[in-house]
Parts: sequence; C-alpha cells; structure tokens
Amino acid sequence: MTPLPAIRPERLLDRLAAFAAIGRTAKGGVDRQALTEGDRAARALLARLARARGFALFQDAAANLFVRREGADSGLPPLLVGSHLDTQPTGGRFDGALGTLAAFELLEALEDAGLATPRAVELVAWTNEEGSRFSPGCLGSQAFAAGRLAPEWLEARAPDGARLGEELAATLAALPEVAMRPLGTPVAAYLELHIEQGPVLEREDVPIGAVSAIQGTRWLEVTMEGAAAHAGTTPLAFRRDPMVAAVAALHHLQTRVMPEDPAARLTVGRIRAEPGSINAVPERVSFSVDIRHPDAGRLAAIEAEVRDVCTASATAQDCTARVAVRFDMAPLAFAEEMIRAVETAAAKAGLASRRLVSGAFHDALFLARVAPAGMIFVPCRDGVSHNEAEDVEPRFSAAGATVLLGGALELLGL
Ligand code: GLV
Ligand code: MN
Ligand code: MN
Ligand code: MN
Repeated sequence: MTPLPAIRPERLLDRLAAFAAIGRTAKGGVDRQALTEGDRAARALLARLARARGFALFQDAAANLFVRREGADSGLPPLLVGSHLDTQPTGGRFDGALGTLAAFELLEALEDAGLATPRAVELVAWTNEEGSRFSPGCLGSQAFAAGRLAPEWLEARAPDGARLGEELAATLAALPEVAMRPLGTPVAAYLELHIEQGPVLEREDVPIGAVSAIQGTRWLEVTMEGAAAHAGTTPLAFRRDPMVAAVAALHHLQTRVMPEDPAARLTVGRIRAEPGSINAVPERVSFSVDIRHPDAGRLAAIEAEVRDVCTASATAQDCTARVAVRFDMAPLAFAEEMIRAVETAAAKAGLASRRLVSGAFHDALFLARVAPAGMIFVPCRDGVSHNEAEDVEPRFSAAGATVLLGGALELLGL
C-alpha cells in the first residue's frame, strides 16, 4: 500500500535556514531583492534541489521558475503551488520563502510516498513579487496571467540604475540548462502558502488562515517640480520649492486619510530630492504613495484625493505636480471552492482555521484571473513583516506546509 504523503518538518526548517543564508543581513533578516545575484543564487539552489529529486525544471520569459513532478496524465494542466524568493531590501526569512519551500516540501512528500497524482503538481517561484527594486510588484505572475511581458516593464529602473530587461536576461542566462516554456501555460488551480504579515491569527491563537479575499492596492509616483536655487541667497518670495509643496501635501494626506477611514492604508516609503544638494533648493521632489483599501471605490477616491492635494500644494508654491500610476490591483475575492479546500485540509489535520482578508497583495491575485486560486496564511510573530525581525514559530511553518499538502490532495481529488 502507498504510504500517505506527509510533511517532514525538520527538512522544511533546514531548507528555510539554507535559503535565509542567501542574502542574510547583519540583523538576521534577508536582502535578496528581485533579479540580483542573491535572487539568482536562491534560484540556483532550488534548481539543484529539484534535480537531485529528479523533478523537471522550466522557466519562462518573465524568469518564473517551475519545478514539475509529473502526473499520470502529462497532458492535463498542472496543479500549481508556490510563492516567491525575492525579498524586501530589509526583508525577513519567511515572506515568500515559506510558501516556495513548503511547495517543494509538498513535491518531496508526494515523491517520498511514491504517490501517483492524476495530473502534474508544479512548484512556481514567481519573479519580483515585492516590487521594491522594480515596479510593478507581482511582475512574474502578472506576466503569466497576461501571457506577455508589457514592454514598459522591461524599461523599469531600479534605484541602483539597473534596467529590468537586462536583469531579467541575466537571470534567465544564469540557469542555461533549464528549458524555456511559453508564458502563461494552462493551470488547473493555484494554491499559495504565506505568512499573514499581520496580527490577527497570532492574537486569536489560530494556526491557519483561509484567505477569503485580498484588499486592493494602488501605487502612485508623485513628481513635483519647481526651480533649483541658491540656499543662501534666494529669499522666500523668489523660491519655487517643491520640497515645501511635498511636505504640505504629505502632511495633509498623513493626517487625514487613515484617521478618517480606519480601513484605509496610505504609506510614503520613498522620497527623493534632486539634485539632492544640501545648499540648493531642489528642482524636483518625487515620492511614492502606496494606497490599500478593501473597497475599489474608496481606493479610487483616495487616489483622487492624492491628486487634488498634490496639485493644490504644488500650485501654492508655483510648482507643478504629476501623478503616475505604477501598479493597480483591484480587491479580489477568492473562489469559494478554494477557501473550502483550505478549511477542509486544516480540519483533517486537526488544525483550527478562520477566514481572513489579506492586507498584503500576493501573486495569487493574478493567478485568480486564469484559474481558481487560493491562499493559506500562518501567524508570524507580532504580525511583523517587511522587517528583518520577521519570525515564524517552527510549528506554524509545519502546520502551513501540512495544510498546503492537504489542500493540494483535496484539489487533486485524492
Ligand atoms: C507585498 O509584498 C505587499 O506589499 O503587499
Ligand atoms: Mn510575500
Ligand atoms: Mn513582501
Ligand atoms: Mn506580498
């Protein structure tokens, strides 16, 4: 009789430690930003592990990396499981890595048990989920869902000046033995394990979140322009200072948007003055605005408020303001059958679960455009993420992988 497939927690924890060493920061976090040498090293390690188990490997033009364990009917679209290996500049050890390595653990558990699945099961490590080095985030999954890479994405520049198109080509070339496949091959369903990145599960002492929806995100880039001038000689009446305009706009947004709407999130994580000289009034100030809301109408209303406030503040300083949309994701509700598969798998494993809405965006958002998609969350310490201190108790990593395996078996009808 074929033994039932089971997760081996120690193996998963060892793998998490091995990947956390790639790009490890002095504070114990990870800096493995998209399409850097570190990202390439993590992909190479995953490819080595996959080859050692005899799994097939593929990559597509967006450098999404697939690990395939063949099924009884190789012609059926695979069940896809995975997450991402790129991190924030001061990221944690689990954001993305947990879902990717638990997906690998799932493939290994099926292999250890010698279980024949009716269709192939594939792991995917999506490219540039984070979006912190290159906008937009979820580049790989967006390209996969669209079946193409938008030409303007290839022109995106990192803060270090690197161009996405070149970094993508170098990343693909770093795994020359991995076969290429077209972008957007058909998928039966997509399941992703991730840390919650918020405090709900921990606070309620529930090990498994069955993610019912993801709130919407919009990223804006605001550019205010005035005139460069001498810091020591230029009186107030002669200044066209975009820094004054930016500060006024940001003060308004930060003191109004979230206090007036508890469901809203507004974050300015990046600001830049040019030419960036201590003794010159800047010619240009640009900043990012990350807006989140579960309601599409409110998301649009907050974007409109950002536009109005920036224009008014700039005009008051005789400056100009431009607002460009860098990333736009409407809120999404996951398919009921996928939420149920997660709940059933948790119940069968004797793990409590609750439904919750994701505050963070994920690649599953885009997969939901082409296949039923679902997500499993596990608690992280103090809800902290996008921070080097991010931490997950080993029992929760194991619980998440167990539910990923159970959910996959549900979806495979096993
Ligand atoms: C993804 O990392 C997000 O910012 O939600
Ligand atoms: Mn993530
Ligand atoms: Mn993240
Ligand atoms: Mn994310």
